[in-house]
Amino acid sequence: MQPRGRLDISLFQLLRAALPPRRSDRALVERDIATCWADVDRTVVALSARSAFDAALATLDWPRGSIVLMSAINIADMGRIVSERGFRLIPLDVDPNTLAPDPHAVIETITRLRADPAHPPICALCLAHLFGSRIELTPFVEIARRYEMQLWEDAAQAFTPGLPATAGQPGGASVLPVNVLPAGVDLSLTSFGLIKTQTALGGGVASFRDATWCDRTKRLLDTWPRQSEREFLVRGVLRGLTLALLTRPITFTLVANTARGLGFDLDDLLARTTRGFSSGRLQEQIRRQPSAALLCLLAHRLTHPAPASSIARTRIAAGYRRRLQAEVLVGTKAEFPTVWVFPIRVPNPETLRRTLAAAGYDATCRASRLVALSASSGSPPDTHQWLNQLLYLPLQPQLKSRHLDHIAQLVRAHVDSAPSGTRT
Ligand SMILES: Cc1ncc(COP(=O)(O)O)c(C=O)c1O
Repeated sequence: MQPRGRLDISLFQLLRAALPPRRSDRALVERDIATCWADVDRTVVALSARSAFDAALATLDWPRGSIVLMSAINIADMGRIVSERGFRLIPLDVDPNTLAPDPHAVIETITRLRADPAHPPICALCLAHLFGSRIELTPFVEIARRYEMQLWEDAAQAFTPGLPATAGQPGGASVLPVNVLPAGVDLSLTSFGLIKTQTALGGGVASFRDATWCDRTKRLLDTWPRQSEREFLVRGVLRGLTLALLTRPITFTLVANTARGLGFDLDDLLARTTRGFSSGRLQEQIRRQPSAALLCLLAHRLTHPAPASSIARTRIAAGYRRRLQAEVLVGTKAEFPTVWVFPIRVPNPETLRRTLAAAGYDATCRASRLVALSASSGSPPDTHQWLNQLLYLPLQPQLKSRHLDHIAQLVRAHVDSAPSGTRT
């Protein structure tokens, strides 16, 4: 059976991560990590993207109830953090083609909110780059400027090493990727959690436009307790090793058949194994600093980029796009297409998932824990509807052209056989 994906880290690196950390000077290791961002002095390293976001929001002195407009698709915790830090979250419907809110609809929402003389300040617009795509930010930069709001980008699913730049001066001996804060963006979040591109089995990086906000966030992060080395070993390295072994085609087939025989839901098991923190006690879990071993691994991963897996995923995603009919594709109008996971939109994702499983392909309806965020007035209806129609196709380096042909054929048959009226 072809598994849905493969961890973006080698077995050798996983085993190396199990050894005691080689470097003990945290400040220097954090500096090495920040060096991979153009604004070294305006970049902080945290236990996760959620930790960085939580700390950054905690240091804002905006009035309680200030409004944060957010793309309606994100992991539930990001919405919780906004609410728990005392802000009012207003979700914005996300267009399945651009994977961004419609700029006109954003302006309409702002205008509607401002029509109420007692409205709380509308302070920030937070946009997520979904599924490994990049959305076009220009219209939102303009909106943020016009309405004097901050613009935040959540690039947790979209880490792509930036422009190559000569670093490691003097002599420019080593070439490191440098990530640049896009023009007009005030805060950018990146994640290196277990299933992310260039994973460090955890870790998040935030870069800021405003140096003072960055300093305040850093000071708060420094007061939080540290993740223990043991926890990193168990929740990071051991979980990583388990998944790395499990997602090889031979072991995966064995486990999938055994799970089926015993009546286990493998999809459920994998969803639980890949979850970053156990559910509940969110604050307690994210309000910590990374262990020394995590920091060392993250520094190593960023300074020794290994793009082979990203390149293979990009090739496979392009292969899917060539073979599949336009009506099932999402993100076709995003600035860069999706390459982290490959969702398609079909009439009955669960039925197609079972068809693909019977043919030897592990697709899933819940690859990335995304939900339609809701406000007190309920979640935006359109987003909720299309998010529930997604099926994530396998996207791992060992897929061959013949697999893509076969998968595309099964998708086409599924769509063609759907009763009229249920097609997307
Ligand atoms: C869109 C998005 N935002 C934020 C996060 C949080 O990242 P982390 O697990 O590093 O806290 C995730 C994690 O999957 C995500 O997908």
